[in-house]
Amino acid sequence: MNTIQIKDKSFTTFLPEEQILKEVTRVAEEINRDLAGTNPLFISVLNGSFMFTADLMKRLTIPCEVSFVKLASYEGTSTTGKVKELVGLNDDIEGRTVVIVEDIIDTGLTMQRLLETLRARNPKEIRIATLLVKPDKLKVELPINYVAMNIPNDFIVGYGLDYDGLGRNYRDIYTVIE
Ligand code: IMP
Ligand code: MG
Repeated sequence: MNTIQIKDKSFTTFLPEEQILKEVTRVAEEINRDLAGTNPLFISVLNGSFMFTADLMKRLTIPCEVSFVKLASYEGTSTTGKVKELVGLNDDIEGRTVVIVEDIIDTGLTMQRLLETLRARNPKEIRIATLLVKPDKLKVELPINYVAMNIPNDFIVGYGLDYDGLGRNYRDIYTVIE
């Protein structure tokens, strides 16, 4: 067990790199099998999914493409408050098989919003590949096709995930110590 400190919080090793990569390899094998012949476009959601995307792509052996998007939050002028706008998608996805690559699905609201935005562009099919899901916090129904690991509700960092911008660089995933 390894303990790290980020700002006011302490974290301890939760998922070692070896275990993460084993599950990422399994997900890649599922995708290689399911999406052969479709030339899928992987849409990686920055910043959190950069490490997962890299390790996943290295294990794909089918013809495929990758693109990177960001969800920019800003305070909306409407009463709904926070709005998340999709930026960076220059690809034409009409008629294509699209796979959204996410780091973590928590309430699922971010993913729901992203799905709506992408569906409006008329892809043939949208699949979701996520490194992590917190099933107990999920508030909406989502077609999550590929999950590396389900985890409890605790806050985690590492392997792309951050606490206040820090901790993305760690190769293992750490969980907060209360
Ligand atoms: P959702 O809209 O509630 O599903 O939130 C998803 C986003 O919240 C993810 O893309 C992460 O940026 C962030 N997030 C949720 N849980 C964690 C966590 O445990 N550590 C770091 N970021 C998290
Ligand atoms: Mg994210």
